[in-house]
Amino acid sequence: MSDEFAKDVAEGLLATPKTLPSKYFYDAAGDDLFIQIMDLPEYYLTRAEMEIFRDQTDALIQALGQVPDQPFELIELGAGDGQKTFYLLKGLLAAGYDFTYVPVDISSNVLEHLQRYLADKLPDLNIRTEQGDYFKRLKVLQETDLPRVILYLGSNLGNLTDDKSKAFMEKISRRLTAGDRLILGVDKKKSADIVLPAYNDSAGITSAFNLNLLTRINRELGGEFDLAQFRHAPEYDEENGIATSFIESTADQDIKIGTIGKTVHFGKGEKIKVEISRKYDLPIIRKIIADTPFEIETVFKDSRSYYLDIVLLRD
Ligand code: AVJ
Repeated sequence: MSDEFAKDVAEGLLATPKTLPSKYFYDAAGDDLFIQIMDLPEYYLTRAEMEIFRDQTDALIQALGQVPDQPFELIELGAGDGQKTFYLLKGLLAAGYDFTYVPVDISSNVLEHLQRYLADKLPDLNIRTEQGDYFKRLKVLQETDLPRVILYLGSNLGNLTDDKSKAFMEKISRRLTAGDRLILGVDKKKSADIVLPAYNDSAGITSAFNLNLLTRINRELGGEFDLAQFRHAPEYDEENGIATSFIESTADQDIKIGTIGKTVHFGKGEKIKVEISRKYDLPIIRKIIADTPFEIETVFKDSRSYYLDIVLLRD
């Protein structure tokens, strides 16, 4: 991991313009900050998707297209704390469905926590956890011959460019069989006055979340970043529906990074692009799945139409 981290950091910081991959946000401190983000008043995404799963559970269950006496797998990519899925699991058990829940997550810590939580709350649930990076371990989709429903929630797709999203959806589809389904949870394209505050909260948690990337480089790669000389700078392109987070240097400075054996120059006002959070509508989704065997079957929205959970059928 650390080797890959060193390589990615060297490549990203020596490029023009500078970039760093958002996947490195999630060390222990980053996981903790992200939990705080999900509770922020400005960060509507998690609550909007939670509302869909809580208030439309029965319709969602219908849309999975399963029958109670035929076993299937419910596989969640990036399960996290499983809060939204809980409503679905509870409803499926109550309606007598025969299924195994397969949460996939990169963090074994998260999976242990989830397993304990679900064993306590839903003792009848069949569960098989899979630890790993789902971008690399998609064979988790093919461990049995049972029909599958994949959950890919939380607008996690939004961290990818559309080209990468296309490739990823294509890769998933190749692991599925006709009749399998994917529930894709995505944030909806909307005005800047709603989206931008979600990435620029007044408590400064998102700023700490982004700047933690520099702390991580200091700790793991012998970096010498002074966090006081950088600031969080989010932008939202309302027309295209793309939120981008930057870390901006507030001074002209040279930063040594021991492990990669390089000193990186930053001009005053120079920015590192650290994350995109893409916002979607149905035409954008249609473009992303255009060359895959997925088709849009059902669309769920929250009461304010901020968020979409889209059922894709692999035909
Ligand atoms: C977990 C990728 C959906 O992009 O909204 C939250 C991560 N970054 N605040 C998002 C995030 C800044 C989040 N996703």
